[in-house]
Amino acid sequence: MIQMREVGPRDGIQSLGAFIDTAHKVELVDALSTTGLQRIEATSFVNPKAVPQMADATDVMRGIQRRPGVRYEALVPNVRGARDALAAQVDAILVVVTASELFNQKNVRMSVDDSLRQFAEVKQLANAAGTPCIGAIGTAFGCPYEGDISEERLVGLIARFASLGFTEVMLADTTGMANPLQIERTMTRVLDRWSGKLHFGLHLHNTRGMGLANVVAGVRAGVELFDASVAGIGGCPFAPQAAGNISTEDTVHMLHEMGYPTGVDLDRLIEVAQLAQRMLGKELPGQVMKAGPRGVLAQV
Ligand code: COA
Ligand code: ZN
Repeated sequence: MIQMREVGPRDGIQSLGAFIDTAHKVELVDALSTTGLQRIEATSFVNPKAVPQMADATDVMRGIQRRPGVRYEALVPNVRGARDALAAQVDAILVVVTASELFNQKNVRMSVDDSLRQFAEVKQLANAAGTPCIGAIGTAFGCPYEGDISEERLVGLIARFASLGFTEVMLADTTGMANPLQIERTMTRVLDRWSGKLHFGLHLHNTRGMGLANVVAGVRAGVELFDASVAGIGGCPFAPQAAGNISTEDTVHMLHEMGYPTGVDLDRLIEVAQLAQRMLGKELPGQVMKAGPRGVLAQV
């Protein structure tokens, strides 16, 4: 079983220029929660000056209908965000730092060390509230400013999350620089080293068309958790030219075709991808929603 973690409402929506109404964000999250997806990153609690699109995080959390069995998660960059997220009763908090020092400065105006100091406190707050806390490492496979990120650097950062008591870490290819052999090599090493201690997920972007190939590489290494964005909405306002995340329904379709169940209702998810496209009023990158699933034959 492979688990999909939906990030469209956060990673996807945050990159859009025009503000999306809170009601539409809520509608998207609610629709996603009817597809069998068990984890949805619904929003982020960040400085609205940095990401205006996420200024309504508390209202989004208040507006959604919580479906039993679905975990509504939120990204936070610092202690302030964690406090707001806990007050809004998110089901899990995801803290994010980048492997690249320069990228972290640009993204959250802190050094990597300062981010980790914030996370030590966030973890304590989350523990006290009984709320799961997930670590995320951006630019894990390459940085648009610094270039290669060494495996040693990545492994060192993962170790720091482990020492803070984190048990789940997402590794993010923020700007789509990873290639499949790199993913397979790195994930094999990482899974082997922390076997039984840490769970890992991959957060992949399709910036250079390597997204789904990287999913296959991750699966072959033993990864069982992937972030993706419905219809492939998105990008990153801090990453030049970063295209969207891999599309959730394209990933689910591929995994099902390869014989890996995900627990997601693909037909329903395609309907939600089409809803997202209507809602945003533009063509989105997801391909299976246009071509139809392979198993559905065309009429003669
Ligand atoms: N949520 C809302 N407001 C926040 C906040 C948060 N998590 N953290 C800080 N603020 C507010 C402060 O209260 C302060 O408000 P004021 O101007 O009214 O006094 C203001 O933001 C500046 O605070 P400061 O601590 O100096 O933050 P900053 O301006 O250096 O920004 C971050 C640091 C981390 C808050 C900001 O860079 C950020 O939100 N980045 C997120 C980027 C992101 O989401 N990237 C994509 C996901 S990887
Ligand atoms: Zn991302």
